[in-house]
Amino acid sequence: MAETVHYTDLGLKNTKEMFAAAVGGGYAIPAYNFNNLEQLQSIITACAETRSPVVLQVSKGARNYANATMLRYMAIGAVQMAKEMGVEIPIALHLDHGDTFELCKSCIDSGFSSVMIDGSHHSYEENVALTRKVVEYAHQFDVTVEGELGVLAGIEDEVQAEHSTYTRPEEVEDFVKRTGVDSLAISIGTSHGAHKFKLKDGELPPPLRFDILEEIERRIPGFPIVLHGASSVVPEYVALINQYGGKLDGAVGISEDQLRRAAKSAVCKINIDSDGRLAMSAKVREYLSQNPGEFDPRKYLGAARDELVRLIKHKNEAVVGSAGRV
Ligand code: G3H
Ligand code: 13P
Ligand code: ZN
Repeated sequence: MAETVHYTDLGLKNTKEMFAAAVGGGYAIPAYNFNNLEQLQSIITACAETRSPVVLQVSKGARNYANATMLRYMAIGAVQMAKEMGVEIPIALHLDHGDTFELCKSCIDSGFSSVMIDGSHHSYEENVALTRKVVEYAHQFDVTVEGELGVLAGIEDEVQAEHSTYTRPEEVEDFVKRTGVDSLAISIGTSHGAHKFKLKDGELPPPLRFDILEEIERRIPGFPIVLHGASSVVPEYVALINQYGGKLDGAVGISEDQLRRAAKSAVCKINIDSDGRLAMSAKVREYLSQNPGEFDPRKYLGAARDELVRLIKHKNEAVVGSAGRV
């Protein structure tokens, strides 16, 4: 049983102030998933160098992979590393797609500053009740809570959704009021993973449903909205993966133009996982193919880490607009 610790003792921040600044400032806070040392080093390096606030995101699977206690110390290390780089960027440690009250409680007890309770697969009333229960526990410790309305297609941890359902704007006021959540994830046409759309030859991805987003914004003005499934599935990485022995057919993501538009709206947190995975996989494949005699993980993981730093700086500067906000 891991010891109980409050996030402020780890130097972390909840998402309240960062979201308020992002909503007011017309940009979004980037939320990057991580589960290992190199990913965390890349996120901190890139966000400190671009002076960007950041949400470090951990899924249930990632927590199991990395170990809950190890994660806590990694978070302490991340905060300290940023400080030693000369910038005190706000850093939140967030549970991504929490599926039970118990998991959310365990994360809060072990130092997370923010949790998502994803009740979107339940009925509306069950979603309200579960989310409310998490909020009541989390707020005792000033931990912020993200809820979700509407279902994204793709894999959300162990839950696979074949079909997405868009968020129903007529539900958002009631949901926010009855649950007390601090932010709301919505479904407007994104999905998880590297295959977001099934397109015919020459067909372009359909635009996101900004009409739904605008209606949500009209009903809950200024309330922080979260966009999941927001990787662009960078074509250069897909090409490198395929060039060096991989097989990724039909991988396609959300265009940067669509994301820039979302970041300027009520969307104040943009979730990115797949692009980081693609960047690392592309560079590991390339490095090992070009250096067949090399077997030092620092070499191929180092190449992957450098690329991830480049990718995250680009996202902060040119996509979500969070660079220079600290
Ligand atoms: O939304 C899902 C995230 O990309 C986390 O994925 O459950 O494979 O860690 P994971
Ligand atoms: P991507 O798969 O598009 O990176 O989405 C990640 C995400 O939403 C994590 O919660
Ligand atoms: Zn997600």
